[in-house]
Amino acid sequence: MEITVQTGNVLTETAELAVLACLEDAELPADVAGLLEAADFRGRAKQTLLLYPRGAVAPRRLLLLGLGKAEKLTAETIRQAGALAVQQAQTLQVAAFTIGVNEALPLDPELVAQAFAEGVELGAYRYDRYRTGLSAEQRFAVERVTVFTNGSEEQIRAGIAAGQVIARGAAFARDLVNAPGGVLTPVAFGDEAVALGKRVGLNVTVLDKAQMIEQGFGGVIAVGQGSVNDPTFIVMEHGAASEGQPTICLVGKGLTFDSGGLSLKPGDAMMTMKSDMGGGAAVFGAMQAVAELKLPLHVVGIVPSAENMPGANAFRPDDIVTTLSGKTIEVLNTDAEGRVILADGLFYAQRYKPAAIVELSTLTGAVIIALGAHAIGMMGTNQELADKLSRAGETSGERVWQLPLWDEYHEMIKSKIADVKNIGGRAAGSITAGAFLATFVGDYPFVHLDIAGTAFADTPLKPYNAPGGTGVGVRLVTEFLRNYAA
Ligand code: BES
Ligand code: ZN
Ligand code: ZN
Repeated sequence: MEITVQTGNVLTETAELAVLACLEDAELPADVAGLLEAADFRGRAKQTLLLYPRGAVAPRRLLLLGLGKAEKLTAETIRQAGALAVQQAQTLQVAAFTIGVNEALPLDPELVAQAFAEGVELGAYRYDRYRTGLSAEQRFAVERVTVFTNGSEEQIRAGIAAGQVIARGAAFARDLVNAPGGVLTPVAFGDEAVALGKRVGLNVTVLDKAQMIEQGFGGVIAVGQGSVNDPTFIVMEHGAASEGQPTICLVGKGLTFDSGGLSLKPGDAMMTMKSDMGGGAAVFGAMQAVAELKLPLHVVGIVPSAENMPGANAFRPDDIVTTLSGKTIEVLNTDAEGRVILADGLFYAQRYKPAAIVELSTLTGAVIIALGAHAIGMMGTNQELADKLSRAGETSGERVWQLPLWDEYHEMIKSKIADVKNIGGRAAGSITAGAFLATFVGDYPFVHLDIAGTAFADTPLKPYNAPGGTGVGVRLVTEFLRNYAA
């Protein structure tokens, strides 16, 4: 989509559809106020009213869009408003719309522009790849948005450009999550990384099964050995440590399908498990954004990828797996497989001596019980790093909530016959999983983000999400990295 900026007033420029964003109980311009009964629109958050001005103002249609109270206004309000605007244009089959704000907003204009662009791009997202015979109406896409402003065009342009890059990263992650498990196998996931690298300029390496066996990636091999689709280990690199830039490792869980393995999931729980590579997809999306934003950082994206299947060759309960680190894992439940492949991914990250390791995974059902779809579960070994992600969560609208990683939780995953066991019982299921992961990062500052509740939505809670993958993590991690680079 093309989003451009112009100085001017949205009410005096002709348009098929103009959107006027309004704070709650703010006075409307007289020629707009004359078009409605005042009580019909007060500007409450997400409130909309479509008007046909018939010449009273220049645009043919005018959408009043509520932003809620000025004191409660955040970037997230704007993001959602952007999605509502583009969806209204979509409904009206209007290819281009204009937008302006009624009053100065108490937020940084660049952030407002960024959030708006994110909302518009993400709100327009659909996953149509497998829908044949769509009508022209169903295929209709908004092509152009013009933002009218009295403020700094430059600032707004910069915000829009960043917002579009970030939203495209999230849309890419959504596409990957939405692809069926039979299509996006670990090898196909690796091919996607290679294509991404060519597209935006990343150094990409994909290890195949034979290379992983030879180099001792025992965790990925164990989880992947029950499937006819071979596992892969994907590494994507932006920038270089030699340029004196700090290294950040992003590690993502890349289970292209999680049946549970021999500890087979019941049918209901297996649905949506194509999304078990949502952490990996977030790493792909963030790497794309980082490259397009040309961030002055050395960022390494690491995605171990496997399909967890039952089968004659599958790993089994009671197996003991020797990971890349040399540490051993007693497997008690093959459905707790994410942490087993991540053990290799996290240990691999140490070779870059990173300033931080940020890992994302659809790791535990327990985090859905704890936080629902409203927050990412965060655990970490370094409070400064965790605080940075908390702040990025507020700005990006991908909020995180921290859980502790006390020694007592490490006790719960001690094994009598190996170094760790892969489950700690029902109690504190998300935290014992986080504690397990922390075993493999050495002393490097580490944050684990459990996105099991947020990566996939059948019925989305936010207007800018479509049914399916949400692309969660891309906005959060990119915001974190932009702040880190600044
Ligand atoms: N991929 C699942 C976690 C999950 C559940 C993600 C629901 C998204 C939605 C993970 O591999 C898993 O199966 N975890 C088990 C762990 C248990 C066996 C300790 C779980 O959460 O039930
Ligand atoms: Zn599982
Ligand atoms: Zn899983």
